[in-house]
Amino acid sequence: MIALVTGCAGFIGSTLSEKLLAGGARVLGVDALTDYYNPRIKRRNLAGILKHPRFEFHRADLNRMDLERLVRRVDVIFHEAAQPGVRASWGQSFNIYIECNIRATQKLLEAVKGARNIRKFVFASSSSVYGKVDRLPMRESQRCSPHSPYGVTKMASENLCQLYHANYGVPTVSLRYFTVYGPRQRPDMAFHRFIGAALAGKTIRIYGDGRQSRDFTFVADIVAANIAAAGRGKPGGIYNLGGGSRVRLQDALDTLAQRAGVKIRLKRETKAQGDVDHTSADTSAARRDLKFRPVTTLADGLAAQISWHRRMMEEGVL
Ligand code: NAD
Ligand code: UGA
Repeated sequence: MIALVTGCAGFIGSTLSEKLLAGGARVLGVDALTDYYNPRIKRRNLAGILKHPRFEFHRADLNRMDLERLVRRVDVIFHEAAQPGVRASWGQSFNIYIECNIRATQKLLEAVKGARNIRKFVFASSSSVYGKVDRLPMRESQRCSPHSPYGVTKMASENLCQLYHANYGVPTVSLRYFTVYGPRQRPDMAFHRFIGAALAGKTIRIYGDGRQSRDFTFVADIVAANIAAAGRGKPGGIYNLGGGSRVRLQDALDTLAQRAGVKIRLKRETKAQGDVDHTSADTSAARRDLKFRPVTTLADGLAAQISWHRRMMEEGVL
């Protein structure tokens, strides 16, 4: 496989790139190293693969590069690049979400639409496309109504994938990730913040009452599903990827405290705009078509994230 991985320096993109290289693939990685969070962390994410003989890194913005040339050289595309984050997507910053999520995805699809060499175009979609729902679990067939501006841009990007599939036969597969965690998790995300505060003896800030729940999914399980989707994903398909056990934030914190071996102090903040109360994935389609089997328990996944966080603190990266 010769893969293009966009967002290759990010949390999920770098983990995916490493796995692809370990499996014998050649990887062309693109990342603009945007400043949504400290680019030093992104450089560290790349450290293990930058010199790999089958890895080629392009530091570039998808909106400002010759994508046609790049696309001609690969047979699979994993489109991970985006401006992520639910809570930061209000106000002026929405422009960045439009540029990095909607416009960049459209530009990439345009570059792919005439190319016959692309076997699969795997898109990193999100549980945020569902919004607030009446009934759990969330199913791919139900109506989507995003609850945050970020969710709107992921919905639009996913819709663009569907359009290019229906009109031009681009073999898109959209994977709706449910709150991903593990080593390299972004600094704006809950577990990253909680572990950082717990290890530093600082107060953890919870938005709302802590009874919100997420179908937390370990990053290695997401990466495995991406690779499976490149092979077995149905062109035009949409798949939920959830970790399999919905957990309330307050219960996840107990596990975290136990695994970190520390006592934690909590402060409740007002609920964040754009946040939904609960997520839960019906993963029957991914289980059937992708043989998706999330294998990492929350306790084990958190332990791995805590070890990584400690290592990054020692190195002075965090
Ligand atoms: P991340 O921010 O760590 O990685 C995204 C990378 O994309 C960054 O390194 C950034 O520099 C790069 N990028 C952004 N805009 C770019 C552009 N215009 N050109 C080139 N590079 C650009 O985020 P992540 O958590 O690894 O998320 C990866 C993907 O998965 C995103 O599409 C995100 O929306 C999606 N997703 C993530 C989660 C999660 O829980 N982390 C859940 C659902 C969906
Ligand atoms: C995550 C990712 O950030 C999005 O990019 C992704 O699209 C989304 O998952 C998804 O599944 O689609 P989120 O569920 O908000 O979004 O993930 P976290 O940042 O880990 O937050 C989980 C919960 O913890 C939320 O209710 C949030 O309000 C809460 N939280 C977060 C806090 O209480 N305190 C914090 O400091 C941070």
